[in-house]
Amino acid sequence: MNDIIAVCPGSFDPVTVGHIDIISRASQMFSEVVVVVMQNRAKSPSFTIEERKEMLMEATKDLKNVRVDSFEGLLADYTEKIGAGAIVKGLRAMSDFEYEFQMALTNKKLNPNTETVFLTTRAENMYLSSSMVKQIGSMGGDISDFVPKELAEKIVERLKQRGSI
Ligand code: PNS
Repeated sequence: MNDIIAVCPGSFDPVTVGHIDIISRASQMFSEVVVVVMQNRAKSPSFTIEERKEMLMEATKDLKNVRVDSFEGLLADYTEKIGAGAIVKGLRAMSDFEYEFQMALTNKKLNPNTETVFLTTRAENMYLSSSMVKQIGSMGGDISDFVPKELAEKIVERLKQRGSI
């Protein structure tokens, strides 16, 4: 095991089994993994930062070298602040690639001490996204295969309360 702190950033609105797969694989590669809930200005969230953090903490409680944090600002500033050596992102289809590549290059320019590492998604999570979970959940569909089991009920309840998609 290397001695590198890795950051798994995202909006996690809400966390899916795809996110947990990437976080858990990262936890086997790095000495410490910090999952950080961040703002994506292109998206308007359905869950508060605190709710997203709570859900991530519940879903990662058995991964001993994983902790959850949040940060308002640039990812490059966060990685510098905590001394992270890697940013771990999951890649699904080719459609993710251009955007992720742009972010990786920008983050490298802003903080040259951090490398972005891409992990390919499991085949069964190729189609999975938080926005799809929100759409299915808010319309009464079954999301239990898409989110950590212990969170499914809570997520559906909150989506219904907020009438969000
Ligand atoms: O789960 P997402 O929405 O794909 O995650 C994107 C996220 C939050 C990691 C990205 O938007 C981000 O890094 N936001 C923080 C602001 C920032 O650093 N922007 C410049 C990145 S090049």
